[in-house]
Amino acid sequence: MTLRHAIFPVAGLGTRFLPATKALPKEMLPVVDKPLVQYAVEEAYAAGVREMIFVTSRHKRAIEDHFDRTFELEDALERSHKAELLAIVRAVKPDDMECVFVRQAQALGLGHAVLCGRHLVGDNPFAVLLPDDLMIGSPPVLAQMAEQFAERQASIVAVQEVPAEHTRRYGIVGGRAVGERLVDIERIVEKPAPDVAPSRLGVAGRYVLTPRVFDEIAAQPRGVGGEIQLTDGIAGLLRHEKVFAYRYQGRRYDCGSKEGFLQANVELALEHPELGAEFRSYLRGLTL
Ligand code: G1P
Repeated sequence: MTLRHAIFPVAGLGTRFLPATKALPKEMLPVVDKPLVQYAVEEAYAAGVREMIFVTSRHKRAIEDHFDRTFELEDALERSHKAELLAIVRAVKPDDMECVFVRQAQALGLGHAVLCGRHLVGDNPFAVLLPDDLMIGSPPVLAQMAEQFAERQASIVAVQEVPAEHTRRYGIVGGRAVGERLVDIERIVEKPAPDVAPSRLGVAGRYVLTPRVFDEIAAQPRGVGGEIQLTDGIAGLLRHEKVFAYRYQGRRYDCGSKEGFLQANVELALEHPELGAEFRSYLRGLTL
Protein backbone atom coordinates (compact mmCIF):
# COMPACT_ATOMS: atom_id res chain seq x y z
CA MET A 1 0.00 0.00 0.00
CA THR A 2 1.56 3.30 -1.05
CA LEU A 3 0.43 6.70 0.01
CA ARG A 4 -1.15 8.63 -2.89
CA HIS A 5 -3.85 10.73 -1.20
CA ALA A 6 -3.82 13.51 1.36
CA ILE A 7 -6.66 15.43 2.96
CA PHE A 8 -6.15 19.05 3.97
CA PRO A 9 -8.94 20.29 6.25
CA VAL A 10 -9.10 23.99 5.40
CA ALA A 11 -12.70 24.90 6.16
CA GLY A 12 -12.09 26.70 9.50
CA LEU A 13 -13.00 30.34 9.99
CA GLY A 14 -9.65 31.50 11.35
CA THR A 15 -11.22 33.78 13.93
CA ARG A 16 -7.97 34.00 15.90
CA PHE A 17 -6.44 36.06 13.10
CA LEU A 18 -9.21 38.58 12.57
CA PRO A 19 -9.23 41.07 10.97
CA ALA A 20 -6.54 39.57 8.66
CA THR A 21 -8.80 36.60 7.92
CA LYS A 22 -12.00 38.56 7.29
CA ALA A 23 -11.73 38.03 3.53
CA LEU A 24 -8.53 35.94 3.31
CA PRO A 25 -8.46 32.23 4.24
CA LYS A 26 -6.12 31.76 7.21
CA GLU A 27 -4.31 29.04 5.24
CA MET A 28 -3.26 31.74 2.76
CA LEU A 29 -1.43 33.81 5.38
CA PRO A 30 2.21 33.89 4.29
CA VAL A 31 5.10 32.63 6.35
CA VAL A 32 7.94 34.69 4.88
CA ASP A 33 6.96 34.35 1.19
CA LYS A 34 4.73 31.28 0.96
CA PRO A 35 1.17 30.68 2.14
CA LEU A 36 0.84 28.26 5.04
CA VAL A 37 -1.12 25.74 2.99
CA GLN A 38 1.67 25.50 0.42
CA TYR A 39 4.12 24.29 3.07
CA ALA A 40 1.74 21.43 3.89
CA VAL A 41 1.16 20.57 0.21
CA GLU A 42 4.92 20.54 -0.48
CA GLU A 43 5.42 18.27 2.51
CA ALA A 44 2.79 15.84 1.18
CA TYR A 45 4.29 15.93 -2.32
CA ALA A 46 7.74 15.16 -0.89
CA ALA A 47 6.22 12.07 0.77
CA GLY A 48 4.98 10.79 -2.62
CA VAL A 49 1.39 12.06 -2.38
CA ARG A 50 -0.06 13.19 -5.72
CA GLU A 51 -3.79 13.54 -5.00
CA MET A 52 -4.38 16.61 -2.83
CA ILE A 53 -7.88 16.82 -1.40
CA PHE A 54 -8.84 20.15 0.14
CA VAL A 55 -11.88 20.20 2.38
CA THR A 56 -13.00 23.80 2.08
CA SER A 57 -15.93 26.05 2.88
CA ARG A 58 -17.28 29.38 1.65
CA HIS A 59 -14.74 32.19 1.30
CA LYS A 60 -11.90 29.79 0.49
CA ARG A 61 -11.70 30.48 -3.22
CA ALA A 62 -8.20 31.94 -2.85
CA ILE A 63 -6.89 28.43 -2.04
CA GLU A 64 -8.39 27.05 -5.27
CA ASP A 65 -6.93 29.92 -7.25
CA HIS A 66 -3.52 29.42 -5.67
CA PHE A 67 -3.29 25.81 -6.84
CA ASP A 68 -4.59 26.59 -10.31
CA ARG A 69 -2.56 27.64 -13.36
CA THR A 70 -2.38 31.42 -13.85
CA PHE A 71 -2.06 31.82 -17.59
CA GLU A 72 -1.99 35.64 -17.68
CA LEU A 73 0.72 35.84 -15.00
CA GLU A 74 2.79 33.05 -16.54
CA ASP A 75 2.48 34.59 -19.97
CA ALA A 76 3.55 38.01 -18.69
CA LEU A 77 6.56 36.53 -16.83
CA GLU A 78 7.54 34.49 -19.87
CA ARG A 79 7.41 37.49 -22.19
CA SER A 80 9.48 39.60 -19.82
CA HIS A 81 12.02 36.74 -19.43
CA LYS A 82 11.53 36.46 -15.67
CA ALA A 83 12.52 32.78 -15.65
CA GLU A 84 13.10 32.53 -11.90
CA LEU A 85 9.73 33.98 -10.98
CA LEU A 86 8.07 31.80 -13.60
CA ALA A 87 9.65 28.72 -12.04
CA ILE A 88 8.40 29.78 -8.58
CA VAL A 89 4.86 30.22 -9.90
CA ARG A 90 4.85 26.93 -11.82
CA ALA A 91 6.29 24.95 -8.90
CA VAL A 92 3.14 25.62 -6.85
CA LYS A 93 1.37 22.89 -8.81
CA PRO A 94 3.63 20.36 -10.49
CA ASP A 95 2.05 18.69 -13.55
CA ASP A 96 1.75 15.31 -11.87
CA MET A 97 -0.18 16.71 -8.89
CA GLU A 98 -3.99 16.62 -8.79
CA CYS A 99 -5.94 19.06 -6.64
CA VAL A 100 -9.56 18.36 -5.72
CA PHE A 101 -11.82 20.57 -3.65
CA VAL A 102 -14.78 19.39 -1.61
CA ARG A 103 -17.01 21.50 0.56
CA GLN A 104 -17.66 20.89 4.23
CA ALA A 105 -21.09 22.48 4.38
CA GLN A 106 -21.32 22.43 8.17
CA ALA A 107 -18.57 23.02 10.73
CA LEU A 108 -18.97 19.68 12.51
CA GLY A 109 -15.33 19.09 13.44
CA LEU A 110 -12.08 17.62 12.17
CA GLY A 111 -13.41 14.05 11.96
CA HIS A 112 -16.32 15.25 9.87
CA ALA A 113 -13.96 17.20 7.58
CA VAL A 114 -11.91 14.04 6.99
CA LEU A 115 -15.10 12.10 6.19
CA CYS A 116 -15.89 14.67 3.48
CA GLY A 117 -12.86 13.33 1.55
CA ARG A 118 -13.86 9.70 1.89
CA HIS A 119 -15.31 9.21 -1.61
CA LEU A 120 -12.11 10.61 -3.14
CA VAL A 121 -9.76 8.45 -1.08
CA GLY A 122 -11.70 5.20 -1.52
CA ASP A 123 -10.14 2.08 -0.08
CA ASN A 124 -6.62 3.50 0.12
CA PRO A 125 -4.37 4.64 2.93
CA PHE A 126 -4.20 8.43 3.14
CA ALA A 127 -2.53 11.28 4.96
CA VAL A 128 -4.17 14.12 6.86
CA LEU A 129 -2.21 17.36 7.17
CA LEU A 130 -3.43 20.28 9.26
CA PRO A 131 -1.83 23.31 7.60
CA ASP A 132 -1.95 25.31 10.87
CA ASP A 133 0.83 23.04 12.08
CA LEU A 134 3.85 24.08 10.08
CA MET A 135 6.34 21.23 10.27
CA ILE A 136 9.99 21.58 9.35
CA GLY A 137 12.02 18.38 9.16
CA SER A 138 14.72 16.78 7.09
CA PRO A 139 13.45 14.52 5.63
CA PRO A 140 10.09 16.27 5.78
CA VAL A 141 7.90 14.97 8.62
CA LEU A 142 5.26 13.27 6.44
CA ALA A 143 8.03 11.49 4.49
CA GLN A 144 9.37 10.14 7.79
CA MET A 145 5.88 8.89 8.59
CA ALA A 146 5.36 7.37 5.14
CA GLU A 147 8.53 5.36 5.70
CA GLN A 148 7.17 4.08 9.03
CA PHE A 149 3.87 3.27 7.33
CA ALA A 150 5.62 1.30 4.58
CA GLU A 151 7.43 -0.72 7.23
CA ARG A 152 4.52 -1.35 9.63
CA GLN A 153 1.51 -1.24 7.26
CA ALA A 154 -0.42 0.40 10.08
CA SER A 155 -1.68 3.90 10.83
CA ILE A 156 0.91 6.38 12.08
CA VAL A 157 0.17 9.53 14.09
CA ALA A 158 2.82 12.23 14.65
CA VAL A 159 3.48 13.10 18.29
CA GLN A 160 5.71 15.24 20.45
CA GLU A 161 6.15 15.83 24.19
CA VAL A 162 3.96 18.67 25.40
CA PRO A 163 4.02 20.44 28.79
CA ALA A 164 1.54 18.93 31.29
CA GLU A 165 -0.44 22.18 31.36
CA HIS A 166 -1.02 21.92 27.59
CA THR A 167 -2.65 18.46 27.37
CA ARG A 168 -6.03 20.20 26.91
CA ARG A 169 -4.86 21.50 23.53
CA TYR A 170 -4.07 18.12 21.94
CA GLY A 171 -5.06 14.57 21.28
CA ILE A 172 -2.95 12.63 23.81
CA VAL A 173 -1.76 9.05 23.32
CA GLY A 174 -0.76 6.37 25.78
CA GLY A 175 0.93 3.08 24.96
CA ARG A 176 4.03 0.94 24.88
CA ALA A 177 7.34 2.16 23.46
CA VAL A 178 8.59 0.19 20.45
CA GLY A 179 12.15 1.23 19.73
CA GLU A 180 13.33 4.80 19.91
CA ARG A 181 10.59 6.73 18.11
CA LEU A 182 7.47 4.56 17.98
CA VAL A 183 4.77 3.97 20.54
CA ASP A 184 2.24 1.16 20.08
CA ILE A 185 -0.87 3.15 21.00
CA GLU A 186 -3.22 1.66 23.60
CA ARG A 187 -5.30 4.78 24.22
CA ILE A 188 -5.89 8.09 22.51
CA VAL A 189 -7.97 10.85 24.09
CA GLU A 190 -8.96 14.25 22.70
CA LYS A 191 -7.89 17.22 24.83
CA PRO A 192 -7.82 15.59 28.28
CA ALA A 193 -7.13 17.47 31.52
CA PRO A 194 -3.54 16.89 32.72
CA ASP A 195 -4.59 14.67 35.64
CA VAL A 196 -6.37 12.17 33.36
CA ALA A 197 -4.08 12.41 30.31
CA PRO A 198 -2.56 9.01 29.46
CA SER A 199 0.86 10.62 28.87
CA ARG A 200 2.33 13.89 27.70
CA LEU A 201 2.63 12.78 24.08
CA GLY A 202 0.50 15.21 22.11
CA VAL A 203 -0.67 14.63 18.53
CA ALA A 204 0.73 17.08 15.97
CA GLY A 205 -1.29 17.75 12.82
CA ARG A 206 0.07 14.88 10.69
CA TYR A 207 -1.56 11.47 10.29
CA VAL A 208 -1.18 8.48 7.95
CA LEU A 209 -4.35 6.43 8.25
CA THR A 210 -5.81 3.22 6.90
CA PRO A 211 -9.24 3.59 5.21
CA ARG A 212 -11.01 1.66 7.97
CA VAL A 213 -10.85 4.84 10.03
CA PHE A 214 -13.67 6.29 7.89
CA ASP A 215 -16.15 3.73 9.24
CA GLU A 216 -14.92 4.41 12.75
CA ILE A 217 -15.32 8.20 12.41
CA ALA A 218 -18.79 7.74 10.93
CA ALA A 219 -19.77 5.61 13.94
CA GLN A 220 -18.68 8.22 16.51
CA PRO A 221 -21.10 10.35 18.46
CA ARG A 222 -20.13 14.00 18.86
CA GLY A 223 -17.14 14.37 21.15
CA VAL A 224 -15.22 17.25 22.77
CA GLY A 225 -16.74 20.64 21.87
CA GLY A 226 -19.81 18.95 20.35
CA GLU A 227 -17.71 18.05 17.29
CA ILE A 228 -17.05 14.81 15.42
CA GLN A 229 -13.43 14.21 16.40
CA LEU A 230 -10.75 12.50 14.33
CA THR A 231 -9.16 11.40 17.60
CA ASP A 232 -12.32 9.46 18.54
CA GLY A 233 -12.29 7.76 15.13
CA ILE A 234 -8.68 6.70 15.74
CA ALA A 235 -9.69 5.41 19.19
CA GLY A 236 -12.32 3.28 17.38
CA LEU A 237 -9.71 2.07 14.89
CA LEU A 238 -7.57 0.82 17.78
CA ARG A 239 -10.17 -1.84 18.53
CA HIS A 240 -9.43 -3.46 15.14
CA GLU A 241 -5.93 -2.49 14.06
CA LYS A 242 -2.61 -1.37 15.42
CA VAL A 243 -1.93 2.35 15.40
CA PHE A 244 1.51 3.76 16.13
CA ALA A 245 2.52 7.15 17.44
CA TYR A 246 5.72 8.43 15.86
CA ARG A 247 7.97 10.98 17.55
CA TYR A 248 8.91 12.95 14.49
CA GLN A 249 12.31 14.53 13.95
CA GLY A 250 11.91 18.22 13.32
CA ARG A 251 10.15 21.34 14.55
CA ARG A 252 6.50 22.29 14.72
CA TYR A 253 5.13 25.82 14.68
CA ASP A 254 1.55 26.22 15.84
CA CYS A 255 0.52 28.76 13.23
CA GLY A 256 -3.04 28.63 14.52
CA SER A 257 -1.74 30.96 17.26
CA LYS A 258 -0.23 34.39 16.75
CA GLU A 259 2.87 33.49 18.79
CA GLY A 260 3.59 30.37 16.73
CA PHE A 261 2.92 32.21 13.50
CA LEU A 262 5.36 34.98 14.43
CA GLN A 263 7.99 32.47 15.56
CA ALA A 264 7.69 30.62 12.24
CA ASN A 265 8.13 33.87 10.33
CA VAL A 266 11.21 34.90 12.31
CA GLU A 267 12.91 31.50 12.25
CA LEU A 268 12.18 30.74 8.61
CA ALA A 269 13.28 34.24 7.60
CA LEU A 270 16.58 33.61 9.42
CA GLU A 271 17.03 30.43 7.34
CA HIS A 272 15.97 32.01 4.07
CA PRO A 273 18.79 31.90 1.48
CA GLU A 274 18.22 35.48 0.28
CA LEU A 275 16.97 37.20 3.44
CA GLY A 276 18.69 35.29 6.24
CA ALA A 277 21.97 37.14 6.67
CA GLU A 278 20.52 40.64 6.48
CA PHE A 279 17.55 39.78 8.67
CA ARG A 280 19.88 38.35 11.32
CA SER A 281 21.90 41.55 11.49
CA TYR A 282 18.67 43.56 11.59
CA LEU A 283 17.44 41.49 14.58
CA ARG A 284 20.83 41.85 16.32
CA GLY A 285 20.56 45.62 15.97
CA LEU A 286 17.19 45.77 17.72
CA THR A 287 17.37 46.95 21.31
CA LEU A 288 14.97 44.67 23.13
C1 G1P B 1 -6.56 19.08 16.34
C2 G1P B 1 -6.81 17.67 16.85
C3 G1P B 1 -5.89 17.36 18.02
C4 G1P B 1 -4.44 17.60 17.62
C5 G1P B 1 -4.27 19.04 17.09
C6 G1P B 1 -2.87 19.25 16.53
O1 G1P B 1 -7.00 19.98 17.33
O2 G1P B 1 -8.17 17.53 17.21
O3 G1P B 1 -6.06 16.02 18.44
O4 G1P B 1 -3.58 17.37 18.72
O5 G1P B 1 -5.21 19.31 16.04
O6 G1P B 1 -2.68 20.57 16.12
P1 G1P B 1 -7.25 21.57 17.04
O7 G1P B 1 -5.90 22.21 17.15
O8 G1P B 1 -7.81 21.65 15.66
O9 G1P B 1 -8.20 22.01 18.11
